[in-house]
Amino acid sequence: MTETIRLVYADKEYELPVIVGSEGEKAIDISQLRAATGFITLDPGYANTGSCTSNITFMDGEKGILRYRGIPVEELAEHATFKETAYLLINGKLPNRQELTRFSVLLNDNSLVHEDMRAFYENFPRSSHPMGILSAMVNALRSFYPELHNLEEEINMTVTRLLSKIRTLAAMSYKISRGHKVVYPRPDLAYCANFLNMMFDSPVKPYLIDPDVVKALRVFWILHADHEQNCSTSAVRLVGSARVNLYAAISAGIAALWGPLHGGANQAVIEMLSDIAKNKNMSKVIKLAKDKKDPSRLMGFGHRVYKTYDPRAKIMKKMCDRLLTKLKISDPLLDVAKELEEKALKDDYFVEHNLYPNVDFYSGIVLRAIGIPVNMFTVLFAIGRLPGWIAQWKESMDDPMWKLSRPRQIYTGPLQTKFVPIDER
Ligand code: CMC
Repeated sequence: MTETIRLVYADKEYELPVIVGSEGEKAIDISQLRAATGFITLDPGYANTGSCTSNITFMDGEKGILRYRGIPVEELAEHATFKETAYLLINGKLPNRQELTRFSVLLNDNSLVHEDMRAFYENFPRSSHPMGILSAMVNALRSFYPELHNLEEEINMTVTRLLSKIRTLAAMSYKISRGHKVVYPRPDLAYCANFLNMMFDSPVKPYLIDPDVVKALRVFWILHADHEQNCSTSAVRLVGSARVNLYAAISAGIAALWGPLHGGANQAVIEMLSDIAKNKNMSKVIKLAKDKKDPSRLMGFGHRVYKTYDPRAKIMKKMCDRLLTKLKISDPLLDVAKELEEKALKDDYFVEHNLYPNVDFYSGIVLRAIGIPVNMFTVLFAIGRLPGWIAQWKESMDDPMWKLSRPRQIYTGPLQTKFVPIDER
């Protein structure tokens, strides 16, 4: 028998069905609430609102659990490639050898971008942020590659095109911004190595692919591959709900991810750590982050869902230590980060507010060690998150309960007022 919640208002009672997820999470189904009662619910920031049911990613913010299609992210980071992880998220299962080969061939066949797209890059001001450029270029893909969405195979084509071209677009943007020759993708290189080569190879200094660096990027991307209904994924679902083309929906996701409270935090963390290293002002930064009159926060700390240590941050921290040791890099920002973490975790404010390092706290140091410039950090996050956005978009397209996303509001403005002609105002 379906469990229900009884809502009592004035002299009436309403029964609201309870929805239970496979991990025992519970929700009150309010889809008929307004029709039955005339009420809507109000939940700014949607902290108590489920926008959909989903079988892609499971998070438990209290226990620090993250699983893609049931598989713990720790196991994927240890054993899977980013390509396998992307396939898993998008298709619901890990690929067998034959499926993986087919997927790899498709990724390779679609890795080039139309040569006419280069002209766009050349006309962006040199100071443009790469996230703005990436969002525009992904949206522009629709003009060069019409979206085909009649058959499953055609959707797969668009999806593979996006997954493959996003690397090329990102690396191209970097090369052109520096006035350097664009490096084309190579069929003999795997997904992560291919991107690194497009970023750093040069006719005068061939890029030497280091397996430790490739591994770090692979893990970075796997850890970012999906995170259920976060801000950018919700943007992809919401924009996609208007049945817009996939490129436009992903472009909206990239724009949302750019924000410093979301994916842009990895850049903001490095800026904060650099400021502390330069000005020796750690105590002041902590003090201001706690001060309600000051807008600053401790970047890379806190999370809407995790009320314990972010499981991705644990892996990232370990990887950061290992990578820097292997590459024999001594990054003063790592020492600052560790000291800051230690201080914050002993501070009553951070303890009481359940604020722990999130994935962005150590990821910037990893990216710096790989050689990624700070303004490209969030672009790297976007490439990693792409499989998740696509999987979530696909799921929403196939959802029998699909609806155009259109929240309501409680109006608090003036009551009906007469129009006043300009000379009488
Ligand atoms: N530093 C100082 N105080 C904080 C912080 C922080 N980083 N994060 C939250 N708080 C405080 C906040 O001031 C509030 O205090 P009070 O209840 O006393 O008014 C309380 O904690 C709850 O904050 P909130 O803003 O209501 O919580 P939220 O769930 O909306 O915030 C967050 C989540 C990620 C936006 C926030 O923790 C934050 O701004 N963190 C810094 C930015 C950051 O690192 N973002 C990356 C998130 S992880 C990557 C991703 O998945 O996007």
